[in-house]
Amino acid sequence: MRLSVIGCGYLGAVHAAAMASIGHEVVGIDVDERKIASLSRGEAPFFEPGLQEILSEGLASGRLRFSTDMADAAGAKVHFVGVGTPQQKDGYAADLTYVNAAVDALIPHLAEGDIVAGKSTVPVGTAATLAERVTPTGATLVWNPEFLREGWAVQDTIDPDRLVAGVPAGAEGERAADVLREVYHPSVAKNTPFIVTDLATAELVKVAANAFLATKISFINAMAEIAEVTGADVTTLADAIGHDARIGRRFLGAGIGFGGGCLPKDIRAFSARAEELGRGESVAFLREIDAINMRRRDRAVDLVVSALGGSVYKKNVTVLGAAFKPHSDDIRDSPALDVAVRLHGLGAWVTVTDPEAIENARRIHPQLNYVEDRDEALRAADAVIVVTEWDEYRRQLDPEHASSLATGRVIVDGRNCLDAAAWRAAGWDYYGMGRP
Ligand code: UDX
Repeated sequence: MRLSVIGCGYLGAVHAAAMASIGHEVVGIDVDERKIASLSRGEAPFFEPGLQEILSEGLASGRLRFSTDMADAAGAKVHFVGVGTPQQKDGYAADLTYVNAAVDALIPHLAEGDIVAGKSTVPVGTAATLAERVTPTGATLVWNPEFLREGWAVQDTIDPDRLVAGVPAGAEGERAADVLREVYHPSVAKNTPFIVTDLATAELVKVAANAFLATKISFINAMAEIAEVTGADVTTLADAIGHDARIGRRFLGAGIGFGGGCLPKDIRAFSARAEELGRGESVAFLREIDAINMRRRDRAVDLVVSALGGSVYKKNVTVLGAAFKPHSDDIRDSPALDVAVRLHGLGAWVTVTDPEAIENARRIHPQLNYVEDRDEALRAADAVIVVTEWDEYRRQLDPEHASSLATGRVIVDGRNCLDAAAWRAAGWDYYGMGRP
């Protein structure tokens, strides 16, 4: 099937390449000329495992191409809209500028029977407004939220755990849902749940999912705060409650909390939208979720400060990690980088290392010292803090080896990902998050 994908960021670029990999003929469109040039050369403009391979394959097969010209979307049967919906500069609501601009630019190129499938995370009610503009062209607007996780985006796009299609009522909606079934034919063939619903529900599914995930993380981080004043161990607590299948162990990783381009801004946009709808109180707890999350960054900084005797001024602090999570070079709202910046603000000499995110981090925080090589970064450290649980730090950093590089013996485990006993045995003062 001929498809267009409007917006070639973390979501759109992966979607375009993944759709080509399952046999479709795809054009990816973006206003960013550098990004399109890079994608057209077969170079992934960001780090995402597996993207490089499907991008090269797609281009070589002739089924995948990229363009800055919206006119190239003409002729596609389905147009996916995957542009960003960042937090507004002066508030918590989502900034819909890019979604509106993309749809407006697309409208002149739509033909009778086309489908415009929104993928961006939007405030509930957005799709209905967009439908009013799209419907006069004879095209149908549907909402098809995306649940991909960065670091697993290719796998999540090609083989998602569920598909959601918000469609208009009646025959038009049924037809649109059938077209989406054709698009996602490999998933449909293996009976992946395919939920057909109305536009509002589809929009809400996405924000509700992210709100739930954020709540789960902040719940365990709240338990970490209690553990910290009682001598309990939040990791053991998470293991124990996680055995209850109703609760589950995943997303109960206590530490410096969530960041990235989705969870933080999505819960804020959800609160803002609920306020507009006169239901602010229904999700008032999300403010608390946000507050708990932000407190964990303070806690990590406090641990380093107190471990170094009350001040980090002119101390060498090595920060292991900059990306908001491993297997990604994304530093949007990264708790890791925030902790590094705060330590720098307190007068520490901060050295940051990360396997993939240094270039991005340097661009927005040039004041920090970046070192590519992990061991080089550890040299002469008075304290070390792990803030992104890359395997390079979690599994492959031997405490004895770290001892041969660092000057001090303070290790703060901001992700509770290290073997505390092994670090202690090697003579380190180990500090976890919510752990004795
Ligand atoms: C999230 C959703 O998971 C995904 O379904 C949606 O499509 C986009 O938003 P992503 O932003 O890629 O995906 O990251 P995710 O894996 O959800 O992690 C978000 C943050 O939470 C990271 O900073 C991570 O380190 C943190 N986290 C995750 C924890 O602090 N503890 C955990 O137990 C899990």
